[in-house]
Amino acid sequence: MSAKQWSGMMDGDESYAGSKSFYRFEKTVRALTGFKYIIPTHQGRAAEKILFSIVGAQGKWIPNNTHFDTTRANVEYSGAEAVDILNETGKHPNLIADFKGNMDIAALKNFIEEKGAANIPLCMMTVTNNSGGGQPVSMANIRQTKKVLQKHGIPLFIDACRFAENAYFIKLREKGYSKKSVREIAREMFS
Ligand SMILES: Cc1ncc(COP(=O)(O)O)c(C=O)c1O
Repeated sequence: MSAKQWSGMMDGDESYAGSKSFYRFEKTVRALTGFKYIIPTHQGRAAEKILFSIVGAQGKWIPNNTHFDTTRANVEYSGAEAVDILNETGKHPNLIADFKGNMDIAALKNFIEEKGAANIPLCMMTVTNNSGGGQPVSMANIRQTKKVLQKHGIPLFIDACRFAENAYFIKLREKGYSKKSVREIAREMFS
């Protein structure tokens, strides 16, 4: 984390009820994501545990570009199977490419056909792809993934640990985004 983020934590009001930090957090996350309801958890893995104890079960499948280790653990603890559907360039550390965190769209389509949409409660997208070297995902790939899922009524969940870094990579590397702010790009990712 940056020095500003660490010092922000020191300045945080951690009281259990009525903490002013919560309202700041809620306002910021709401502005970025457009979500009405914001539920904080003490760590990402705690959120994963809640999520997958509700949607995960034996016979269910959870695709992702690459599951972070705690995500995979929480999926598999529920009895579901965690499957990585990363594009080929992301599997070769020596290759140089702009968006090595992208989902393999053709493989995702085949996966849904094979397993059946009814057995896929949601699909995840990890930005940036932490277990794959922190590689970014392009806006085009987020849109294509969403389009494929929408056709089958499968919700897309963004594991947004490094959404700001991902937005910055889009600004630097994807056509049409150099003049947009990181905040605007992040909003578009979440939209
Ligand atoms: C992509 C991703 N998902 C989930 C987690 C889990 O979050 P936490 O460490 O807050 O439990 C991490 C942690 O680094 C992560 O990078």
